[in-house]
Amino acid sequence: MSPPPAVRLSHLGRRFPGPPPVDALQDATFTVRAGEHVAIMGPSGSGKSTLLNLIGLLDSASSGVYELDGVDVGGLSAQRRTRLRRDLIGFVFQDFFLLPARTAWENVALAMVYTGLPAAQRRQRAMAALDRVGLSQRRDALPSTLSGGERQRVAIARALSNDPRLLLCDEPTGNLDSVTAGQVMGLIAGLNRLGVTVLTITHDLATASRATRVLQIADGRVRDQ
Ligand SMILES: Nc1ncnc2c1ncn2[C@@H]1O[C@H](COP(=O)(O)OP(=O)(O)OP(=O)(O)O)[C@@H](O)[C@H]1O
Ligand SMILES: [Mg+2]
Repeated sequence: MSPPPAVRLSHLGRRFPGPPPVDALQDATFTVRAGEHVAIMGPSGSGKSTLLNLIGLLDSASSGVYELDGVDVGGLSAQRRTRLRRDLIGFVFQDFFLLPARTAWENVALAMVYTGLPAAQRRQRAMAALDRVGLSQRRDALPSTLSGGERQRVAIARALSNDPRLLLCDEPTGNLDSVTAGQVMGLIAGLNRLGVTVLTITHDLATASRATRVLQIADGRVRDQ
């Protein structure tokens, strides 16, 4: 039997009540197969982050059905959603969101606090994740002493530390120059080749060109190409 799709949306909608109400996502219907790398492109305000927040279980839809890894998440308790998110999903954001007073490895290890792993094991896993993004030698550095690309690689290591099956990236290269952006996307593409399903929101054509498929979104409506 083939595995269930990583993500299946059926007529998914998100209305922010307002006033006035905003239909940030309308009637989104598409599937992301396990192992795909899908880019989502669209203008500012078109609903990209709204869509990614729904897929990442950071927000709940107002209408429609969302199945994550074959599970209809609509009726799940907040606790089950949190657990699913923790077990399956990694996030990478444009602004990195690293804690400034913590070193690179501490930032990665902190993401595992809720796993119940003992501290020594969290440290070991953090080191392994930093190694995967090529940053072992900077593990004791504070974020302020890292370059933008290095900060984003720490953020990717943090996302990887919980061994996600689905990596959700919201403008991961938005704050990077084109060379560094290329390196970060190369890293993400490499993770995809190792089997991580990737969804990347981007304005950047070069970033989107790394994906195996591009979806366009405009005015809250997704067009599957
Ligand atoms: N919490 C909210 N309450 C009300 N409206 C919201 C809320 N969040 C987003 N919106 C609106 O929903 C629409 C889609 O917003 P969204 O953040 O998804 O856009 P985006 O495509 O990610 O834009 P950008 O490229 O600028 O990040 C916008 O009109 C926005 O103003
Ligand atoms: Mg956005």
